[in-house]
Amino acid sequence: MLPNASKALHSLVLALALSHTLLPLFFLLVAADPVTVPDLSQCQLAVDRPPAGPNAMNTYLFNCCIPIVPAHKVVRFSLDAYKSPKTRVRHPAHRVSEEYIAKYNKAYALMKALPDTDPRSFKVQADLHCAFCNGAYRQGGAAGDTPLQVHFSWLFLPWHRMYLYFHERILASLIGDPSFALVYWNWDDQRDGGNVLPPMFARNGTALFDENRSTSALSGSTLIRLSPASNTTNTTLVAFENLNSMYQAMVTARTPELFLGGPYVLGSDLTNSTVISAPLGGSIENTIHNGIHYWTGNRSSILGEDMGTFTSAARDPVFYAHHSNVDRLWDVWRFHLPDGERHDFNETDFLNAEFVFFDEYANMVKIKVRDVLDISKLGYKYKRVSSDKLWIRFSPVPASNGSALPAAIASGVPLVGPAPLNGTIDLGKKLVARVQRPSALGVKRPEHSEEVLTIEGMDVVRNSFVQLVVFVNLPGATNTTLTSSAEYVGTFNVVPSASQHRRLMTNLKFEIGDNLKRVGIKKDDEVVITIVVKGTEKVTIQGLRIGYEV
Ligand code: C2O
Repeated sequence: MLPNASKALHSLVLALALSHTLLPLFFLLVAADPVTVPDLSQCQLAVDRPPAGPNAMNTYLFNCCIPIVPAHKVVRFSLDAYKSPKTRVRHPAHRVSEEYIAKYNKAYALMKALPDTDPRSFKVQADLHCAFCNGAYRQGGAAGDTPLQVHFSWLFLPWHRMYLYFHERILASLIGDPSFALVYWNWDDQRDGGNVLPPMFARNGTALFDENRSTSALSGSTLIRLSPASNTTNTTLVAFENLNSMYQAMVTARTPELFLGGPYVLGSDLTNSTVISAPLGGSIENTIHNGIHYWTGNRSSILGEDMGTFTSAARDPVFYAHHSNVDRLWDVWRFHLPDGERHDFNETDFLNAEFVFFDEYANMVKIKVRDVLDISKLGYKYKRVSSDKLWIRFSPVPASNGSALPAAIASGVPLVGPAPLNGTIDLGKKLVARVQRPSALGVKRPEHSEEVLTIEGMDVVRNSFVQLVVFVNLPGATNTTLTSSAEYVGTFNVVPSASQHRRLMTNLKFEIGDNLKRVGIKKDDEVVITIVVKGTEKVTIQGLRIGYEV
């Protein structure tokens, strides 16, 4: 494809996003170029800024530049060349044997003992993450100086899959055990002990320990909050909230965009996008993945290190176990849910996006998204766990009693439509709005489509923890409302991480059809939407839209 600046800038058009007609919404991808390996000789210092507080105006610079290797050490990935002799089986971290833990610890100890200049070292492994999250490299080509960012879009799941794949191979080779596999932090398990920091990572003095963690994580016994919304301390209610978070993020998020996130191509800029082209993170990334980062990092350290900010997250060995579970859930979503297989994107801008990693021979490997869409071909798999069924079959119960719409109309709750009709809306602590459904305009629902709420042009300063919790039909929701009900549609958690730009602008999408069905709302032409904001930063949006998406 030809490099073409204007093509790159207008790389993708969300058809009808700005339309006043509210016709069914479909993605229309205009030809663009996929992101490709940046010019690695042009590395800049990565930038991070602390959450609000006495240091809020300070800028912290990190050298996360990755080693440059001679040309003969740069190879292209192929499934054949990287075929593993045995299938590696990733087990839940809280279930592995002492023997396994000893092996795991040894592998990380060896990796940490390598000199920082070795591409296989723990330092370089952590730097790879920092480099592609905090602006060390530019996209190059037609996109020029635009930073390359692997979060908040469809790049998130495949990039982290590749990252873990090579990380695991390096560990395996260091201990000379080709069957060695990473564990996964089974935080979604609300029954069998997965929802605390896995004990193997909590042993002080081992290579798996990291003292830069929150007191909850260090205690090893506090229950994880997958979306820390209501602050209830009742452990049964926490478990129900966690199950509903999983249900909303995994089961009802059926479309590739809802689950993987939106398109990110050459020229996509997360800090300066217009509403019409802003990508977005997928359901697991935005809600639970970000929530675990925040939960694990030390909130009293300047940047929330280690897990609480992307610059340092991968310095904590539990990072890789966290992402192993994220990766597992992608595989479950794609191949193993009871209602059948789902689909990833098949756009070439997705399939041909290309990145670099280091393998166990310290070679630099170029690898494309298309290479990693089926883990059985990559030679590893996840041990299945029956606790998945708890969230797969979770059946959230309504908290409301009938439609909230008549009372909302009577009390003057405003009707909010798509951008740009509304200008900029400051959410304050909470926004309650009525939003028209496509049925109101006689739009017929396409087959196999989902009814999706889009929060358009959410704009937030990224150096502080911010959370948006979204409900349907629950105008009275507050920042202590339980998120275990059928009205809860999802949460957006911002991991504080301000690279050279302090802002993040993105669209957020949530499936709401399943919620409305459970609440018993069929015929209403409008839905009452409540967005509760937690955190201290101002959050604005450009509009609200409900459409059908496939
Ligand atoms: Cu690259 Cu969990 O973040």
